[in-house]
Amino acid sequence: MTTVTELTLDELVSQAQSLVREIELLKGNRLSLDLTRGKPATDQLDLSSGLESTIEGNYIAEDGTDTRNYGQLRGIPEARALGAEIMEVDPDDVICWGNSSLALMYLSVELALKSGLWSDQRRWRNSKAPKILTPVPGYDRHFTLCEHLGIEMINVPMDADGPDITSVRNLIADDPDIKGIWCVPKYSNPTGCTYSDERVATLAALPGTAAADDFVVLWDNAYAVHDFQFPRKPLAPLLDLARVEGCEDQVLLFASTSKITLASAGLGFVAGSGKVLDTITERLNVSSVGPDKVNQLRHARFLRGRLEAHMAGHAEIVKPKFELVEEILSEGLKELDIASWSRPEGGYFVSLDTRPGLAGIVGALAAETGLAITPPGATFPYGVDPEDKNLRIAPTFASLTDLKTAMEVFVLCVKLATFEDEIKKR
Ligand SMILES: Cc1ncc(COP(=O)(O)O)c(C=O)c1O
Repeated sequence: MTTVTELTLDELVSQAQSLVREIELLKGNRLSLDLTRGKPATDQLDLSSGLESTIEGNYIAEDGTDTRNYGQLRGIPEARALGAEIMEVDPDDVICWGNSSLALMYLSVELALKSGLWSDQRRWRNSKAPKILTPVPGYDRHFTLCEHLGIEMINVPMDADGPDITSVRNLIADDPDIKGIWCVPKYSNPTGCTYSDERVATLAALPGTAAADDFVVLWDNAYAVHDFQFPRKPLAPLLDLARVEGCEDQVLLFASTSKITLASAGLGFVAGSGKVLDTITERLNVSSVGPDKVNQLRHARFLRGRLEAHMAGHAEIVKPKFELVEEILSEGLKELDIASWSRPEGGYFVSLDTRPGLAGIVGALAAETGLAITPPGATFPYGVDPEDKNLRIAPTFASLTDLKTAMEVFVLCVKLATFEDEIKKR
């Protein structure tokens, strides 16, 4: 096979025609395939069925707490230790709360905006137009959260080591309205990259270099332990490094067990300095008399001492799906040289770039055949991908059989969109 630019016009036209015929045939098949959201598949959820039998009448935590009763706003010690193991911090630096790290992110950002994280006069709303840096492509729900709170977003490009640090530095050095940066440091959503040690060290020191004195690094480590191979890939310790730089009050780390145990009934974690955790605890105390500690106890008993073995079980299910995606993309698109994509070693997503201007067309073509992909643009704030080229593939939820069909359809759509684009350009 030759690259698309080496094909003659006649070859392009004839191949495009046969692709149209194939796609028309598919439309008749009334497919219903979904690669939109990064959800665990049923067999992954089944890995956690052992959670059920961990209590069996014994509700007492290590410190003697009866987990059925009110109290323990920061969570029981063994749940905080579990969070610490996942986030690679000290248990004293962790609050275990609720089932969703996203909810903790919302709470923390809202606090930073409205009443401040530090028991002083600093709050983001003192700025007329608080802004946040959003490395792109990124996680759509970070963008929704900011949009909802009226925080403007500024895109910075991602590279293989993390957010482009020169852009970040230049932006924050002069603009006191820039209040923070979102980071998904391991198996980033969607690019799959893990931040390099050097990049983490720079990010840990970043608050000290910002024009804003209330700049916060929001470290959403959703895929901290979601490796395909073990021992797990290391990530430099942000909180420790921030402490060395005197920036520990301006970093907040998040994680959860949503994609470790049960997506709807896991544990959420936030980690940070004592000062910031005090503010968060005070805020939690306003709205609740304590978290679901029975679930915390179930999780701690189920996962402690066997976290890696449990994640290896996920990898066994998830890795073949990523391999299949790679195989089909490679077979269909590599030699034509019409797209580039990530080959992650963990996490939940593959990020694919088409030629500029074609992601929307691919999304529309896919929808016509009955294949739902994450809406083009969703990986950028306000749903606007300036180059209209990024597409996020979420392979975990589908069965291997459905995934194979879905990816074959996807490849046909990318090819047709690109061939038609090339024909127009001749
Ligand atoms: C980067 C990232 N953060 C957070 C979440 C959601 O986490 P939780 O279920 O803990 O709210 C996801 C889920 O897809 C995610 O990809």
